[in-house]
Amino acid sequence: MKISIGNPVTGDDFFDREQEQTQIWRKLERNHIMLLAPRRIGKTSLMHRLCSTAAEHGFQATMASFAPCKNELDCIRELAKAISKDKKIAKPFRKKFSKALKHIKGVKISVFGVGGGIELQGEEPPDWREIGEALASTLAELDGLWLLCIDELPVFVLKLLTEENGRDKIRSFLYWFRDLRQNHHKNIRWILAGSIGMDTVASRYGLGDSINDLDPFPLGAFSRETAESFLSCLAESYDLTINHGVRLYMMQKIGWPVPYYLQLLFDKLVERRDKTTPVDNEDIDNAFQILLSPTYRIHFDYWRQRLSEELGSPDDGHALHLLNAASQDRTGVSKTILSQTLQERIAQPDQKEETLRYLLDVLENDGYLIQDGDRYRFRLEWLREYWLRRVA
Ligand SMILES: Nc1ncnc2c1ncn2[C@@H]1O[C@H](COP(=O)(O)OP(=O)(O)OP(=O)(O)O)[C@@H](O)[C@H]1O
Ligand SMILES: [Mg+2]
Repeated sequence: MKISIGNPVTGDDFFDREQEQTQIWRKLERNHIMLLAPRRIGKTSLMHRLCSTAAEHGFQATMASFAPCKNELDCIRELAKAISKDKKIAKPFRKKFSKALKHIKGVKISVFGVGGGIELQGEEPPDWREIGEALASTLAELDGLWLLCIDELPVFVLKLLTEENGRDKIRSFLYWFRDLRQNHHKNIRWILAGSIGMDTVASRYGLGDSINDLDPFPLGAFSRETAESFLSCLAESYDLTINHGVRLYMMQKIGWPVPYYLQLLFDKLVERRDKTTPVDNEDIDNAFQILLSPTYRIHFDYWRQRLSEELGSPDDGHALHLLNAASQDRTGVSKTILSQTLQERIAQPDQKEETLRYLLDVLENDGYLIQDGDRYRFRLEWLREYWLRRVA
């Protein structure tokens, strides 16, 4: 097993997630899924794994990211491109897709074209909805059951929003997309995911019912046992000795066994450690401190960025204020104190309480905070230390 930091992991570098895979395949028998998780938990890696094992579950599968898409038609192009990746499918798919597009003026399929081979002709651009429908009915005509995994849907939605009539555009896109899922439910299942929470984005714009056909699947960190075996596996691959007590210490320092942070800490150990003696707690402390220095801020900064992307102003500022308060102590802060903290920014009591409830929900769902008795504390202790030094 190789260390991998940042890019989605595949093949032998992908560890475990067995239970999650079983649960997801069971859900997919009936439902579409919305994969919800904080950043860097392993959503994209898990979707890759689901695609590569889909045949065992009676599915043909492919994955597309909507992150690079500038408009609705680009999303359809990304999908067409993803489906064409499978050499066996590409030819019959293109033939049928071409036929399905025949009645739409101003569009044709080219065999080797970039952008999924969808070429527009003439002055008047055709309606993207019709092209999307043609794509789905083409898939429905191909044999078997399809699984389409879409990554970074919310990134695209937020990009549409910045355009003229952005709100109308996302409303129309999201409802069209739901109709598409419902109309072709018999042959096509979808998993939607993103580094920003689709549920939060949809509810922020009053579009919650455009995703109400999706079964939410929250993906968490590794369990303690899995994290321990993961560290053992890495240690074995890199000829390091990390005893049980030291592995527990690593997890205690990180606070929440997110695979990404386990990899990060392990990587620093490999870099700094000779292999002749077992790793000890002091090695862990040193590696941990180095990673908290400004040089490595990219590993934590996106927690702060996500607040702005997902919540927008002024809620991102309110959330930052709450997190600053919670970061002061390892054991967190009581709800009463959080309420007083928010009072500095929202004077009206009803509005303050409503915002507090909403933001605590989001911050809990997104892995920032966890409720512990009547207190809210940082879930990732490592992030708390970072927050205290570099943000608060
Ligand atoms: N099953 C796994 N086995 C080993 N490492 C993993 C696993 N899942 C995630 N990781 C680690 O987490 C990192 C991020 O994984 P991935 O890109 O899949 O997460 P993500 O949730 O899609 O992140 P983002 O929210 O930024 O899109 C990987 O580079 C790897 O270090
Ligand atoms: Mg991802």
